[in-house]
Parts: sequence; C-alpha cells; structure tokens
Amino acid sequence: LDRRSIAIDGPAGAGKSTVAKLVAQRLKLIYIDTGAMYRAITLKALREKLDLQDQMSLTQLAKETTIQLVAGLQQRVLLDGEDVTEEIRSPEVTGQVSTVAQIVGVRDVMVKQQRQMAKEFGVVMDGRDIGTVVLPDAGAKFFLTASAEERACRRAKELVDKGYTIDIKKLTKEIEERDYMDSNRAVSPLVPAQDAITIDSSGMTVEEVVTTIIALIEKGK
Ligand code: C5P
Repeated sequence: LDRRSIAIDGPAGAGKSTVAKLVAQRLKLIYIDTGAMYRAITLKALREKLDLQDQMSLTQLAKETTIQLVAGLQQRVLLDGEDVTEEIRSPEVTGQVSTVAQIVGVRDVMVKQQRQMAKEFGVVMDGRDIGTVVLPDAGAKFFLTASAEERACRRAKELVDKGYTIDIKKLTKEIEERDYMDSNRAVSPLVPAQDAITIDSSGMTVEEVVTTIIALIEKGK
C-alpha cells in the first residue's frame, strides 16, 4: 500500500477536480489531473487534423508529445511547452476526448507518465482508471459520483463562468455519451475499484465531500 497516493475516480462532472485539488492542498500532496493529459493530446490531434480513429498515428503522436502539469494556485497544462490550460476545456476537445482515450497506445503513454509522477511525489490523482489501473496500490481510493442532472448543472456553471454559451439539454446528452463511452470501452473502463469507497455527492457541498474524504483517509491510517 502506498500511503502517499490517493485515487479519485468517477464520471464527468462529479466534482472530482474541485475536490481533489482541495484534498491535495490540505494534505500537502500534489494534485494530478489526468483528464487534462487526455485533453491535451486530443487538442494536438485536432489541430493536426489527424483521423481520431487511427490508432497508430495517435499512439505515435502521444509518444512524441510532451505534456506537463505545472502545479500552482491554478494548475497549468503545457502542451509541448505551450500553455493550453483554457483551450483543452473547449467543447471541441470535450466532444472528442473519449474517442482518443479509448486508444490503448495512447493510454500506455499516459499511464506510464502518471505512475512516474506518483513515484516522485505524494499525489492526489483524479481520473477514470486511477484506482483500477494506474495506482492499484493507492493508499486510499474514492469513486465520486452524483446524479446526471446535478453533474450537467455543475458542468454548465463551469462553462458559463468561462464565457461559453450552453444548452443544458445538449450538455446533459454530451455528458451521458461521454460516460457511456468511458464506461464501455475495452481498455481501462470507468468502473469503481473493488476497494474504492463510493461517495455520491448529490446534495453535498464541496466542503462536505472534502471533509468526508479526509476523515476516511485519516481513519485508514
Ligand atoms: O476528467 P475529464 O472530464 O477532464 O476527462 C476527460 C476525458 O478523458 C474523460 O471523459 C475520459 O475519456 C478521459 N480520461 C480517461 N482516463 C483518465 C482520465 C480521463 O480515459 N484517467
């Protein structure tokens, strides 16, 4: 068991990143947003107009790309040195990321880097396959969910805050489609690890979720 690493998995819009960031801050660990890595490689593939079904070129692209997560007050994401923190949240990237994330070769590259980071630092890592595949020995594993409506509302708020115009029906459909693809893919599907604690955050405040997680981590020590 690696006490220094904490895994937080779950579907889109369950509040993983908000919660993971705060847990990391309070426990003095490094927050790693693995979704940002899949988003960054998707952005690059879109820019280069690659066929997103072409596993070989996507795998090659992942191998020759440098993705850096820069810790700080707001974590920045660098794609070959360029700050793409905002751009990777665009509807275009969000709409295609699950297609790219299905590719085994792409996942292999990302998982290797994620394990390396967890080896160097104590981390709170958020994603879809952290407890099951990336860090099976994580000291604590959480599966964070919320009702589909609440997840759509949270995503809507996030996007509106960033200046995007949203259509709540379309957004709900988009979230459902992404979860469907993530949950039903052949490699590393979104599924709770056997030893993960599931937390349904519907109706809970961020602070309540964070306190619950920290209490459970402390109890496990
Ligand atoms: O967490 P976020 O919603 O930004 O993740 C974007 C997408 O990246 C997910 O919908 C999923 O397809 C992919 N992903 C993944 N494995 C992870 C993290 C994200 O497949 N560990």
